[in-house]
Amino acid sequence: MMELIDKINDLKKRRNAVILAHFYQLPEIQDIADFVGDSLELSRKAKDTTADVIVFCGVYFMAENAKILSPDKTVLLPHLYAGCPMADMITPEDVASLRAQHPAAAVVCYVNSSAAVKAASDICCTSSNAVKVVSSLPEKEIIFIPDKNLGHYVSRFVKDKRFILFDGWCHVHNDITVEDVEKARRDHPHALLLVHPECIPEVVDRADFTGSTSQIIDYAVKSDSGEFVIGTESGILYRLTQLCPRKRFFKLSGLLVCPNMKKTSLQSVFNSLEKMENRIEIDEKVMKGAAESLNRMLSL
Ligand code: 13P
Ligand code: SF4
Repeated sequence: MMELIDKINDLKKRRNAVILAHFYQLPEIQDIADFVGDSLELSRKAKDTTADVIVFCGVYFMAENAKILSPDKTVLLPHLYAGCPMADMITPEDVASLRAQHPAAAVVCYVNSSAAVKAASDICCTSSNAVKVVSSLPEKEIIFIPDKNLGHYVSRFVKDKRFILFDGWCHVHNDITVEDVEKARRDHPHALLLVHPECIPEVVDRADFTGSTSQIIDYAVKSDSGEFVIGTESGILYRLTQLCPRKRFFKLSGLLVCPNMKKTSLQSVFNSLEKMENRIEIDEKVMKGAAESLNRMLSL
């Protein structure tokens, strides 16, 4: 393994590449990354990097975001079939049909979506800024796509708008049940429950804190509590235990694995960098429209 890591580091220098990784990636991938973050932080890093090549260790829509925000860079996705089932639930045609039904509404698009869907939307948001993004809009009607759970979460904070929620979801978070919460409370009575807003409303209702992956990490780091039950993808536990070695973390349910996030391996990172393969390419018109939605979010 060390030999492969040395080879990756050597190639990285030769190609002037930066490796960006999401918190859900495998520990060995987080270890070789130059930066590990949540969706919003990774978008900002991709936009600001001076590297020529971005190796994006995450899923397809995240690598697309990097390409949209840094169109002059080469963006590589080590495993080309690392997708996001939620992003695949909605098409630009669905967005057009919703707009036709609600012509006065603004379309707010969670970044977990394709470039074409972003291009068909008015503005993007991530799980860490969704409330801020929606609150900033003058429209009183919001078409929120594609995650109904995040949309529902935002609607709790923004009371003066009417929400039309698209029926999309993340299977990893949506599968967490109230029974899982009740069991975790029984098993770990002193722990705080921290969950992602992609969880169902009934789970969010029972949590002590709800936030994006970075917000969950920040909360756990700053908290005086010594025990936490974590309701998001299990890759985050690696960073949590690194940052808080004396605190104890438990998974909210036995599952909590995004198979797509686990597709990236050291070998696939090496292969893509060596052959400069699995480049993200986006149609020019789509790229322009998606950049408008993403940059509108980033300028807030
Ligand atoms: P974050 O925005 O919290 O990084 O989450 C991304 C994601 O894919 C959640 O399932
Ligand atoms: Fe998509 Fe869910 Fe995986 Fe995030 S955890 S990439 S939303 S399937």
